[in-house]
Amino acid sequence: MTALLTTNLGDTPLLGRGKVRDLYAVDGALLLVATDRISAFDHVLGTGIPGKGKILTQISLFWFDLLKNLVPNHLITAEVSEFPASLQPYADQLEGRSMLVKRANMFPVECVARGYLAGSGWKEYQASQTVCGNALPAGLLDGSRLPEPLFTPATKSQDGEHDENIGFSQTEALLGGADAAELRRLTLAIYQRAAAHAESQGLILADTKFEFGRTAEGIILADEVLTPDSSRFWDAAAWKPGGAQPSFDKQFVRDYLEAIHWNKQEPAPSLPDDVAERTQAKYLEAFRRLTGRELSL
Ligand SMILES: Nc1ncnc2c1ncn2[C@@H]1O[C@H](COP(=O)(O)OP(=O)(O)OP(=O)(O)O)[C@@H](O)[C@H]1O
Ligand SMILES: [Mg+2]
Repeated sequence: MTALLTTNLGDTPLLGRGKVRDLYAVDGALLLVATDRISAFDHVLGTGIPGKGKILTQISLFWFDLLKNLVPNHLITAEVSEFPASLQPYADQLEGRSMLVKRANMFPVECVARGYLAGSGWKEYQASQTVCGNALPAGLLDGSRLPEPLFTPATKSQDGEHDENIGFSQTEALLGGADAAELRRLTLAIYQRAAAHAESQGLILADTKFEFGRTAEGIILADEVLTPDSSRFWDAAAWKPGGAQPSFDKQFVRDYLEAIHWNKQEPAPSLPDDVAERTQAKYLEAFRRLTGRELSL
C-alpha cells in the first residue's frame, strides 16, 4: 500500500489543503478528505503513513456515532457511493478517508478540554500555577490528572500556525455569553463521555480539541473528532506523571526526528520505512483500542 499524499478531484473546487486534510466544496456541502500526510513539530513530513487518513476518518466516524445523542454533528455521509455523481470517478482516492459534511458557520474558537497537564498547560502551570487562568493546586507534575477537566479555549493566531489560549471572558467577548457557555458545556460533556470510553479501553484522553459550527438547525460538532491528530491519547498502563508522556501515535516519529537533530525548519525530513511502518501500526492500534474492531486498509 502506498501513501496518498495529495488528492486530485478534477474540477471539484478545492477550498484548501490543511496539514493533513484536503477540503472541497461539493454543491452546498463540504468534502473533507484525510490524506496520509503526517505532521510533527508543526511541519508536514516528506513521507506519508500509508492508510493514516483512513484510520483517522474511521476513528472520527466511530466517535460521531458514539456521541450522536449528546450532540448533533456535521456528517451527511461517508459512503462514497452516496456522494454526488461528479465524485464517483474519484472513488479510489476517497474510499474510507472522506466525509461529506454540512457546511457550518464555524465559531472562531478552538474548544479544548484538558483532563491532564501537558504541553502548553504544563508550561503555564509552572509559570503561574494556572491553566488558561484557572487556579490549580500546588504540587502537580507534567502529566498529572487535573482535579476536574477544564475548558481552555484558544484562537488561531494571525500566522495561522500556532493557537493562542484565551480566557473564558475573552471567549464571551468573541462569541457572546450564551454561545460561549453552550460551547463550554458541550466541550466538557463530550470530553467526559469520550474520556470514560477511552478509559474503559485502557487509554487516557489527556486533552482534545473540538470545533463547533452553526447551521440553520443550531450548534453542531464539526471538523474531525477525538483522533490522535486532535487529541493526546496515552496508554494508561504506561502513564507516569513527572515528565512528558510518550505520544501514543507519533512517538517513533518524534524519536527519529530528535535522533537526526532536525532543526525543525523546512524542509521537513522523510522517514525511514521502519519508522513509517511502526507508526502505521500505532495508528491501527489506536483504532483497535478505541473501537474494539480491526480495520483492514
Ligand atoms: N462542517 C464544517 N463547515 C465548515 N467548515 C468546517 C467544517 N468542518 C471543518 N471545517 C473547517 O475546515 C477546515 C479544515 O481544515 P484542516 O483542519 O484540514 O486544516 P487547517 O485547520 O487549516 O490546518 P491544520 O492542518 O493545522 O488543522 C478548518 O478550517 C475547519 O474549521
Ligand atoms: Mg484544523
